[in-house]
Amino acid sequence: MSKSVKTIFINNKWSESSNHDTINVVAPSTGASIGEISRGDKADIDLAVAAARQAFEGVWGNTAAADRGRLLSRLGLKIAEHAEELAQLEALDTGKAMKLARNDIAATARYFEYYGGAADKLHGDTIPFLNDYQVLIIREPRGVAGHIIPWNYPAQMFGRTIAAALAAGNTTVLKPAEEACLSIIRLTELAHEVGIPAGVLNVVTGNGDEAGAALSSHKDIDFLSFTGSPEVGTLIQKAAADNHVPCVLELGGKSPQIVFDDADIEKALPVIVGAIIQNTGQTCSAGSRVLIQRTIYEEFVTALAKRMNGVRVGSHDADLDCGPVISAVQRDRVNGFLDRAKADGIAVIGQGKLDPSAVSGGFYIKPTLLGPVDEEHELAQDEVFGPVLVAIPFDDEDDALRIANGTEFGLIAGIWTENGGRQMRLAKKLRVGQVYINGYGAGGGIELPFGGFKRSGHGREKGFEALKEYTVSKTIVINHK
Ligand code: NAI
Ligand code: MG
Repeated sequence: MSKSVKTIFINNKWSESSNHDTINVVAPSTGASIGEISRGDKADIDLAVAAARQAFEGVWGNTAAADRGRLLSRLGLKIAEHAEELAQLEALDTGKAMKLARNDIAATARYFEYYGGAADKLHGDTIPFLNDYQVLIIREPRGVAGHIIPWNYPAQMFGRTIAAALAAGNTTVLKPAEEACLSIIRLTELAHEVGIPAGVLNVVTGNGDEAGAALSSHKDIDFLSFTGSPEVGTLIQKAAADNHVPCVLELGGKSPQIVFDDADIEKALPVIVGAIIQNTGQTCSAGSRVLIQRTIYEEFVTALAKRMNGVRVGSHDADLDCGPVISAVQRDRVNGFLDRAKADGIAVIGQGKLDPSAVSGGFYIKPTLLGPVDEEHELAQDEVFGPVLVAIPFDDEDDALRIANGTEFGLIAGIWTENGGRQMRLAKKLRVGQVYINGYGAGGGIELPFGGFKRSGHGREKGFEALKEYTVSKTIVINHK
């Protein structure tokens, strides 16, 4: 039966999916249905890409950089005006605690502020060449950018990829995650209200293997930005290869925090716990391995366990340390890791507690510290994407580096030591995109380039680096003899 659910936005118009089908939206805190989104598919993606192409060749291509920037800055202000409403929607839809949702919306506004300000400051270069020649290097937008993003930080991901792409002069088609995209629908309405022209931002809600696959394999896109699992990242890269389209992939990690015996332990403890419980561990840059020098292993792990025992888990509106995970599928996946660890005899050394607001229909997991975990065990190698921290002892600097680099991932790392030489030696040798010394940023600020090595993906988002990804250079050689 056809229902009028209109969450597809093409050419500044809201519509149903062309198949009239919908996807149920569930609140992770209760497991209850809270609405529906349109189940867009290839037909909708085709319309969205055509709209984006037309806008790229027309209105957006003819909009001056300063005017593009002004529209984005205006959207940033608009998001800030609607911050509380957006935060409540984000928390309900993803299950994340209200304080985290509020931070996320502030970051989303900041992305538009940052890239709005950057739009007219991205300029080219000149190169000395032969006499009688002038060489100009200009930076041009890629064209139509396809964006496929996950459910863990929907609003922030919208800011991160859309603001950068539009600032650089691209037009966009966004396929948000089917599990959580209500904030994105509201953000798109706000983008419309501030006057982003028709066709510049198009959003097609739907499933990954339908709308997502149609977007990534579309013949008329010029660039792909993907954040999600390594498995789907491989599919995206294959589709991009078939069409000779460049792509940026951000695929998660198994990020280490390395604690030496000269570290400021009191400073490290809350940060290390925070880095694994943030967003209930569903963060690509979660600090999911803590490597501890053997001389302080027992002392450190005992203090860490005490803190982990104090972590409280409840519904998004109870606003505790952790909310539920996104879905029953994700809960079962995380519990699968914990069950296998138990069967392998790995000890649980610390565990958070469920608050009464963690009702039985919701997708709750107790944040858990396990150790010692063998560096080759799946818990020390695979991305769990839940609040599960593994403790691994090491002997010295070389051993720490070997273990830290010893997974297929390479996204970010934290180093805890007061020894300046060691800080720099390790920072240079870690195969990761961001290194934090005596701190941990979980991806850090909007200004900081972010991305991976190895299975964590390639290309950089955030900061000015993202603008380089979303543009391409053109060399113009003028013979003026
Ligand atoms: P996923 O990679 O399937 O989903 C991410 C996005 O890709 C969603 O928008 C989805 O609709 C889309 N997608 C799925 N299949 C597609 C396809 N065949 N073609 C094009 N697009 C497609 O991730 P999922 O299933 O939500 O989570 C599975 C695991 O992936 C998690 O447990 C976690 O380990 C990892 N993950 C990592 C994220 C990160 O931030 N790096 C975010 C989400 C998940
Ligand atoms: Mg999937």
